[in-house]
Parts: sequence; structure tokens; C-alpha cells
Amino acid sequence: MIFLVGNWKMAPEKGAQAITLFKKTNLLAKAYKKTLTVIACVPSVHLVTLTRQRVSPIKLGAQTVASTVTVAHTGLVHSGMLKDAGVSYCIVGHSESRARGEGNDLIREQALRLIEKKITPIFCVGERERDPQGWYLSEVKEQLETLLVVLPKTAYKSLIVAYEPVWAIGKDAVREATPIECQEMIIFIRKVIADAIGEKAASLVPILYGGSVTEVNARSFIIEGRAQGLLVGRASLDPKVYGQLAKSISK
Ligand code: PGA
Repeated sequence: MIFLVGNWKMAPEKGAQAITLFKKTNLLAKAYKKTLTVIACVPSVHLVTLTRQRVSPIKLGAQTVASTVTVAHTGLVHSGMLKDAGVSYCIVGHSESRARGEGNDLIREQALRLIEKKITPIFCVGERERDPQGWYLSEVKEQLETLLVVLPKTAYKSLIVAYEPVWAIGKDAVREATPIECQEMIIFIRKVIADAIGEKAASLVPILYGGSVTEVNARSFIIEGRAQGLLVGRASLDPKVYGQLAKSISK
């Protein structure tokens, strides 16, 4: 199965629009259910509304979770609340959250809170820039290792890693990553995971690619880039584009 994960970020503004987008995305999930696992990671406020639509096979995902379960944290969302709202996946460590000050230790705790509730973390890693000396590899390795050293023994079965080079994300991206850059990093990430939890377990962790994925380049990240799925921002908000994207990777 190929994972197709939409990261809606802070859109759409209205609940009714969220319902429409969710239902349209579910049509894709239905049409390609033999090849794709379609997940929509939506703003926290829309979670309950969307669960109540009772549509399938689309899976509901969140974009943030508190790193703690003690109640006195104004503004945060408890992992148990996500579970209760029907969430089965949650993005952690996204570069936009890291840019707001979330560091490796906090992100590790967020991932652990999700695992405790049997919610699969979509654990994002990625370098801010590519330096010719290759230090960017250590940046990604450190991001991964902070979690891997404390990962409970069986938790690799419900872990997804997303490689998202920061320089290739969003409308201010420097450029798109090439499928070869994606493939090299996926091999590197798999090796780091294998060194920590063993080759067999590491082979079961899906590694996705994200950053300016479009209906035009999506297939190349899967075929040449060897990603086992995609984390898609902007293109996931336009059902027509997203439909073409889904079709291109499910061939
Ligand atoms: P983008 O966002 O597809 O709009 O570049 C991807 C992401 O931030 O996950």
C-alpha cells in the first residue's frame, strides 16, 4: 500500500468547507482503495466534525499533540482527546512546528504520547539546507535518533517516518527535491533506523516523502525516489489536482 497523506495545515477556515473537502478526498480513498491508504491530517478544531461524517475508507489524522498528559497546559491537545475524536494518525516534528520552537526532545515526547494511545505518529525529519560537506545528514540522523533510542520494542509496527527537506516545502521553497535526492535520503534514513532497531524491524517502517509534491512530480518520488508514500500540503487542498496526483501514483 502507498500512503497518501494530506497535510491541510491551517485550512480550510470553515467547518462546512472541511466537510466538503473530506468527503471529496474520501471519494479518492474509495476509488484507489486497493493501492492507497488515504489519510487527511486536519486542524484540531475540525476533527470531531469530520469523525461525525462517518465516511470510509479515509483515515483521520491530526497535526499536533501535547507532549504531556498533565492537564495544566493551556492551548494544547491531549493525546486521549485525539483518540476519542477518532484520530488514527498524527503528524509530529513538522518543520513548521520546529520553526515555532519545538525541539527534538519535545517531539520525541509527543510521539511517545501518541504511541501510548495507539495513534500512529507521522514523524517528520528533514534538513534546513544542503551543505556541500554533508552535515545535513547528521541533522536528520539526530532528529531520528532522539526518538529511536526510546522507542518501545513493538512500536516500530506503528510508526511512519516522513522525509521533508525544509528547503523544498511550501510556497517559499528554494526548489523541488529531485527523485534521486529523495532516494538517497530514504536509504540513509532506513540505515539509521536499522542501526537502532535492527534491519527486519526497520524494513517495516514506511518512509514517505514530502515537500512541493504535485500531480506532475508525485509518481517520480514513488518510482525513482522509492518513497512508500507522500505527505502533501498545498496539492491536498485542491480535489481536482489531488485526484490527478492520486491517479498518477496508483497506476
Ligand atoms: P507542500 O507542504 O506540499 O505545500 O510543500 C508539504 C508539507 O509541509 O508537509
